[in-house]
Amino acid sequence: MPSRPEPRSFCLDHAGVKAWLMDPDPEALQRLWSEADRIRQARVGEAVHLRGLVEISNHCLRHCLYCGLRAPSTGLERYRMEAGEILACAREAVRLGYGSVVLQGGEDPGLTRTFIAGVIRAIKQETPLAITLSLGERCDDDLLAWKEAGADRYLLRFETSDPQLYRRIHPDLPGIPSDRLAQLTRMRGMGYEIGTGVMVGIPGQTWDSLAFDILRFRDFDMDMIGMGPFLPSPRTPLGGHGSVAFLAPADQQVPNDELTTLKAVALTRLACPDANIPSTTALATLDRTQGRELALMRGANVVMPNVTPLHLRALYEIYPGKACLGESPAACQGCLEGRLHAIGRTVAKGPGGRKRALHEDAVSCDSNH
Ligand code: 5AD
Ligand code: FES
Repeated sequence: MPSRPEPRSFCLDHAGVKAWLMDPDPEALQRLWSEADRIRQARVGEAVHLRGLVEISNHCLRHCLYCGLRAPSTGLERYRMEAGEILACAREAVRLGYGSVVLQGGEDPGLTRTFIAGVIRAIKQETPLAITLSLGERCDDDLLAWKEAGADRYLLRFETSDPQLYRRIHPDLPGIPSDRLAQLTRMRGMGYEIGTGVMVGIPGQTWDSLAFDILRFRDFDMDMIGMGPFLPSPRTPLGGHGSVAFLAPADQQVPNDELTTLKAVALTRLACPDANIPSTTALATLDRTQGRELALMRGANVVMPNVTPLHLRALYEIYPGKACLGESPAACQGCLEGRLHAIGRTVAKGPGGRKRALHEDAVSCDSNH
């Protein structure tokens, strides 16, 4: 009698990750969801960390093919927040009970070393918040000055581990080759907690390369890992019909859909059991009803509610139709708390840094469980 095939193992070599990513079988995926949720629960617990996101500038000198803030995006009103405005957002984050803020912006030389250092010092002087920066590729002198001023963490997605695809979608500045992994490694050496991530389903992304992305998170022992679906922006070369030319062959191209993003989140939890993994706004944008919750139930343990002043939010248009665009910070906080409780989770207290496990219970590639 033919025996039933063994269920797929959670061995996370390249072939294993790729097979899970490509698996369409709901029954098999149920096992993946359960395992990711189990590991999340065991390693980072039930409490969800809330990070207040402040979008401090939408100026950007880069020409990334996917991003609506790219320098050639004309017709987009540009802004840069004043120090006092940023500080007011940080105070709001404290009032709402958040333990950290993320200061995010385009790659904007107008955000000078001194300006950002001053903002960091002011926030640290007045609040107990942890500070995460997400300001793109910056020189070591800037990064060191900001660390010294009190910054705790830095987010810089490497976007894809495929060097050719990366160069195509993220053109170098003249004479300066972009090497985000090198910057991440240097930042770790400076004492930052480091965060990275990729978009799921960017045109040209193959199953192979997404599987390598996930292994890279593990190999670099990333502290924070953010993944969201690629959402086309009509302001960009990848936004319209022109993007078809960038697609990989149909059997290799990763779709920018919810299911694939959730698989990537779940596999990342298995590969990086004690990392902080957000349920991203891009996923909530794709599925407003339950995108946030599904990621939290399949590996994620962080949410980054927006605390940017409402009149600026629409201008920070990386992609159109962002979730929660018109919601005040207080409304988002209330909504989120309700959503978390509905899925049996709590709101974490405190800055919410990475807690490293004392020992690794690594998945063996010989086992089938
Ligand atoms: N769709 C989804 N995510 C995007 N990002 C940039 N453009 C898009 C888009 N069109 C992501 C990138 C970047 C982060 C700030 O937002 O991964 O690192
Ligand atoms: Fe922002 Fe629900 S999380 S309104």
